[in-house]
Amino acid sequence: AEGDAAKGEKVFKKCKACHAVGEGAKNKVGPALNGIVGAAAGQAEGFKYSPAMKEAAEGGLVWDEETLAAFLAKPKDVVKGTKMSFAGLKKESEQADVIAYLKGF
Ligand code: HEM
Repeated sequence: AEGDAAKGEKVFKKCKACHAVGEGAKNKVGPALNGIVGAAAGQAEGFKYSPAMKEAAEGGLVWDEETLAAFLAKPKDVVKGTKMSFAGLKKESEQADVIAYLKGF
């Protein structure tokens, strides 16, 4: 189902300790997320990715809605060895909402 960007902005509070998005967003513990929906993985300028994420990127991982939802649900299931230490968004609605929010940047 289509996500709700306004709800996704609230969900993004769970990401903000590590990620910024929007004008002037910089890398933090995690990479800046402007343009991430539809982008190839592992491309944020100046961010030091884990070897696991670099390998996934070389393997052609693209963050479409499907791969993003799966990664946000269980990061380590999609990129084994990722340094994104996040328990995951359990609810499909939360995954879809935060993806809808991120699409706006
Ligand atoms: C990577 C999204 C929560 C730390 C990523 C990537 C995405 C993402 C899409 C891949 C970026 C790329 O390929 O350039 C999110 C969202 C979150 C969230 C939407 C909330 C729902 C967190 C939290 C932390 C974190 C809470 C820190 C505790 C990282 C790190 C990476 C990363 C360190 C790089 C992973 C690696 O190189 O293996 N995140 N994230 N993220 N995130 Fe998150």
